[in-house]
Amino acid sequence: MPTTKDLVSRDNFGSKFGIIAAAAGSAVGLGNIWKFPYVAGENGGGAFLLVYLFFVLVIGVPVMMSEFAIGRRGQKNAFRSFGVIAPGTKWGVIGIMGVVAAFFILAFYSSVAGWTLEYIVISATNKFAGQTPQDLNASFNTFIANPLRPVIWQLVFMVLTALIVLAGIKKGIEKYTKLLMPILFLLILILCIRSVTLDGAKEGLAFLFKPDFSKVTGKTILYALGQAFFSLSLGMGALITYSSYFSKKENLASTAVQVALADSLIAIMAGIMIFPAVFAFGIEPSSGPSLVFITLPGIFQQMPGGSVFGTIFFILLAVAALTSTISLLEVVVACFSEELKISRKKATVIATVAVSILGIFATLSFGPLENVKIFGMSIFDILDYTASNVLLPLGGLLIVLFVGWFAGRKITKSELTNKGKLKATYFPYFRFIVKFIAPVAIAAILIYSIFWGGL
Ligand code: PFF
Repeated sequence: MPTTKDLVSRDNFGSKFGIIAAAAGSAVGLGNIWKFPYVAGENGGGAFLLVYLFFVLVIGVPVMMSEFAIGRRGQKNAFRSFGVIAPGTKWGVIGIMGVVAAFFILAFYSSVAGWTLEYIVISATNKFAGQTPQDLNASFNTFIANPLRPVIWQLVFMVLTALIVLAGIKKGIEKYTKLLMPILFLLILILCIRSVTLDGAKEGLAFLFKPDFSKVTGKTILYALGQAFFSLSLGMGALITYSSYFSKKENLASTAVQVALADSLIAIMAGIMIFPAVFAFGIEPSSGPSLVFITLPGIFQQMPGGSVFGTIFFILLAVAALTSTISLLEVVVACFSEELKISRKKATVIATVAVSILGIFATLSFGPLENVKIFGMSIFDILDYTASNVLLPLGGLLIVLFVGWFAGRKITKSELTNKGKLKATYFPYFRFIVKFIAPVAIAAILIYSIFWGGL
């Protein structure tokens, strides 16, 4: 039975650094290190980077501030926080969509996260040595199609995630993100230095930093906005849930700016780590999602000390994924425990088992279930598509409409200024973006991704 304490008092983050580490930990993940470099690689490099950064600042930060304001005001899970601010309305549906999105994202994300564990072992035991690009390609495809190994790694990853979430906010999420985020930064720094000191690195840096605007199309713009949402963990209640544990003294605007900067910095560093190496070894920067699992191992094994750098790289990827999966699981756990009035422990077990079952289907869709198609897509792809291209932008749209048009100026201003204690000269711009610019821009990607086949 849950104790009264479980149900009444809520855990909280204990320090400012803890808040930044947890929120940046949610934002920084496979989206930065696996997805950003290949999406940038396929969409013109530097030009994509500029458009992306523009969206992070102009749309991402205000949406993040809105989510923080909702969560800290509501002091409840993503669903209930809306009900606290707008009792008797249907806005809580945004929170329910968020829980569903978290469920879906966690199911396919934990699959890729599981692959990173297999690749840590392969790199550490130097199994890439002597393999041709064709061999690496074949071994990756054989591995992901295996009916057992990827599932086991996925379950290991889910258990790790659940153990941290189970320990609570302060003693679990905060403690581990405070430890893991600096490690992640250090690892990525080591790999950046290794990459830029390779012969021929310059070309890679030029690809990332010299914008070629002839490459910017409507699609680049829409991809950049979609990627900004996914990468900043927006639109699905993860940051609403986390901010419900923020202290009343936290400056929400500066926290949002710091998290967005940290996330962008890591995405840029991932580019610095990957593109010089890609160019130095004469590989196409646009080799797609397999960039980090096939192309990079190919590069590592040609480098002196490649096994060590390969191992560091895959540990980095796993750590980045773990600080994101805990934020996804927390969305579901907070909702289950508060709404079903069950203990955190029970909620974590139920959520983990349920997500893992769906996750296994996603993982098996590269092997035994590859012929199962829903609307022409594999199980993995349909989960990714529904969450990333429909639920996140739709959630983001409804969040800005809620904050811009419904929740009222007073409530938002009171949260952003800590009841008038902080100055907020930016407030009129914030209101303008949240009321007009963000809804129109987000509606555009949403319509595009639904009607023109996705981002
Ligand atoms: N932001 C994470 C990444 O870039 O990998 C992915 C993610 C985590 C999306 C948590 C949404 C979320 F709630």
